[in-house]
Amino acid sequence: MTNPIIKLEKICFAYPGSTAKVLDNLNLEVCDGDRIGMMAPNGSGKTTLFHTIMGLCRPDSGKIEIFGRPVSTEQEFQAVRSKIGMMFQDADDQLFCPTVVDDVAFGPLNLGLSTDEAREKAREVLSTLGIIDLENAITHRLSGGQKRLVALAAVLAMEPGVLLLDEPTAGLDNGVKEKLVKILNSLDISYVVICHEFNFLTSITDRVFSMENGKIILDDAALIHQHEHMHKMGNHPHKHL
Ligand SMILES: Nc1ncnc2c1ncn2[C@@H]1O[C@H](COP(=O)(O)OP(=O)(O)OP(=O)(O)O)[C@@H](O)[C@H]1O
Ligand SMILES: [Mg+2]
Repeated sequence: MTNPIIKLEKICFAYPGSTAKVLDNLNLEVCDGDRIGMMAPNGSGKTTLFHTIMGLCRPDSGKIEIFGRPVSTEQEFQAVRSKIGMMFQDADDQLFCPTVVDDVAFGPLNLGLSTDEAREKAREVLSTLGIIDLENAITHRLSGGQKRLVALAAVLAMEPGVLLLDEPTAGLDNGVKEKLVKILNSLDISYVVICHEFNFLTSITDRVFSMENGKIILDDAALIHQHEHMHKMGNHPHKHL
């Protein structure tokens, strides 16, 4: 049994000024080697869950452990934040430097690399993702899909211990999605991926969880699945009872 990288225990959270619990006694464990997908309706609390793991939303009650250590204060979250690679649902929340290479080098620079080393690291990741041609592009002029890839590059450049990807395929064309599947499958890193596309999720994860009433549904019976079936006359309109 491996130690959890992320452990949430009985987390309750309501946004300030609201009594509605977005997270309600939520439990989650992400262990070494886990590749977890999360697919749940809009507004069910998926992004809030990621923000809670990052310390951007502070739970009203419950315990969070990251890399085996309890975290609750800003100082404690700061110490682990750079090791969690979170790709935000909105790439504009993540990218703020004038050029792509600066945006991707920003994290490594903050981790103590020299300017040259950080830019070298940035170029290496941009090459891996096949977007080195965007190196000197003005970030805010990129297309939505290009911004998402740059945001992913910025996350990977920090060599995080775990990845949290919030709807990474939003706005990506099929070719880029396929590239993303290959990249994620080639990484030796645990991750949790929020996505509304079942086929994408099953091609990059081992389990797909859902969220309901502020909790994660782990129950095997509730695991989202897809099946194919065959029967005679299937081309005619019919119902399955
Ligand atoms: N900053 C905020 N202030 C107040 N309420 C918020 C805030 N952000 C989210 N909420 C509320 O919390 C609930 C969960 O939102 P959240 O963004 O976590 O859902 P989600 O599962 O990520 O949805 P989606 O699939 O649309 O991204 C929603 O009811 C939303 O209105
Ligand atoms: Mg969301």
